Amino acid sequence: MSSSLTVRRIAADQGATYRELRAASLRDAPYAFDETLEEALSEQAETFEETASRHAASETSTSFILYTEGHPAGLIGAYFEDAPERRAFVYALWVAPAVRHLRGGELLVNTASHWLAERGASDVYAWVPDANRNGMRFYEHLGFGPGGEHVPVAHAPQEWVTLLVQPVKRQNEGEASAP
Ligand SMILES: CC(C)(COP(=O)(O)OP(=O)(O)OC[C@H]1O[C@@H](n2cnc3c(N)ncnc32)[C@H](O)[C@@H]1OP(=O)(O)O)[C@@H](O)C(=O)NCCC(=O)NCCS
Repeated sequence: MSSSLTVRRIAADQGATYRELRAASLRDAPYAFDETLEEALSEQAETFEETASRHAASETSTSFILYTEGHPAGLIGAYFEDAPERRAFVYALWVAPAVRHLRGGELLVNTASHWLAERGASDVYAWVPDANRNGMRFYEHLGFGPGGEHVPVAHAPQEWVTLLVQPVKRQNEGEASAP
């Protein structure tokens, strides 16, 4: 991993940065996400400010931002679903094209998974569009496998999404214990 890449949880005053990253990701990779660029840009500035503020403090949903040399260059969201199973998800993963293949995506997924694990997750899920072959290969490379669901997208029934899942690596797991 490049030492110039860092990840930090979103701060309450980063609504504008959050909006810029969401817009950049939808402009660059519309095939990867549920939302369209028009939908994202039609949201009021306050909506992004509210989301940033909530994601900075919430124990059930958050975002992490990837930085390269201090500049925002990627994003991931993480949340616990509001259902009895309380499954943990990562979503909205995006790394700016200029810094791809430097392990920024891996750093984002690992940081988000760690945050979810600290709050009780034993598995982390991700929905990946079937058309997003790169996204699928990326998640498989990280150890994600079939999550048991394959469904058409509600607003575009000709497109399908696959659920992937990875058991969470807990901190200290795999570390050698003293004899
Ligand atoms: C998918 C994405 C987040 C990967 O980010 P990244 O920072 O380039 O990924 P990493 O450098 O952490 O990759 C780790 C490994 O995943 C695999 N991988 C990453 N991108 C890949 C690609 N395009 N094709 C195949 N495998 C890929 C590789 O094995 C890679 O290791 P390597 O570079 O040593 O071979 C990035 O390509 C992206 O933002 N794509 C557009 C948005 C998107 O598809 N998001 C996912 C939505 S489901």
